[in-house]
Amino acid sequence: MENQKTRDRGRFVDRVVVITGAASGIGRACAIRLAGEGADIVGVDLSSEGLATLVSEVAAIGGRCEAVAGSVADLGVIDAAISLAVETFGGLDGLVNNAGIGGPMKRLDAVESDEFDAIVAVNLKSVWYGMKAAYAPMRARGGGAVVNVSSMAGIRPNRNHSPYGMTKAGVISLTQYAAMDFASAGIRVNCLCPGPVETPIFQQMERNLDVAAYQVARQRVQQRTVMNRFGTPEEQAAAVAFLLSDEAAFVTGIAMPVDGGWSVSDGLAR
Ligand SMILES: NC(=O)c1ccc[n+]([C@@H]2O[C@H](COP(=O)([O-])OP(=O)(O)OC[C@H]3O[C@@H](n4cnc5c(N)ncnc54)[C@H](O)[C@@H]3O)[C@@H](O)[C@H]2O)c1
Repeated sequence: MENQKTRDRGRFVDRVVVITGAASGIGRACAIRLAGEGADIVGVDLSSEGLATLVSEVAAIGGRCEAVAGSVADLGVIDAAISLAVETFGGLDGLVNNAGIGGPMKRLDAVESDEFDAIVAVNLKSVWYGMKAAYAPMRARGGGAVVNVSSMAGIRPNRNHSPYGMTKAGVISLTQYAAMDFASAGIRVNCLCPGPVETPIFQQMERNLDVAAYQVARQRVQQRTVMNRFGTPEEQAAAVAFLLSDEAAFVTGIAMPVDGGWSVSDGLAR
């Protein structure tokens, strides 16, 4: 009952939002946050199991969530998600291009051609697919808002992680172009640049390490924030909700760090 009241007076009542990578981490937190503020959600992910759990979690707070299982590297999957939003919920107001992979962690010369192509397809081309597919339905609705999930790695490089950082820098650039191209249709386009958040993507990137080495890597990353901690998916979702909401009505084309001070850190232990 309390959840229903919160949903009824939320910032996203009667709004429909498509979220990619919705089965885990930041995407899942965005789905729950936005549904909690009234939005109807369409979640896209590779994991149909994770999506089924999300659908139940959203239902438990009185919300509605439809699921599309498939890869964001496939334009057909993105088109299906946008069509489902329009057919089931009556339109499209928001898009969170969040799905991503960490890709190889090695020096540039050791990266294989197929590894390079795979990360471009999932982290970068999918963002273009999403915006391409969302433009017409958002325009038909009189406008909308897009949040593309980049990374601090798209602003400042991390050693041995060039394919990932390059795709995330590309997401920032695509966002800037889309902000210009879409403004006349009333569509705002912004980027979120998370600092470290300990989700499966982070754990996967360090998967070759033993427990002790993982703890060292984890601490090193943590110390690069001035707050000396990892962020939470919910903290990222709060920023996404702001950027999607009418409170950000004059905000477009930005890359917003939500990084615990990673951008201003000297990297020294504190
Ligand atoms: N966790 C961090 O420290 C961090 C920092 C900066 C940016 N990011 C970015 O945040 C976004 C979300 O990451 P997260 O930390 O929540 O990771 P996560 O691993 O918890 O979630 C990523 C989700 O994307 C899905 N996914 C992966 N490839 C897909 C594909 N081809 N098609 C559809 N779904 C796919 C996964 O199944 C998973 O559910 C990513 O774009 C990531 O690059 C994360």
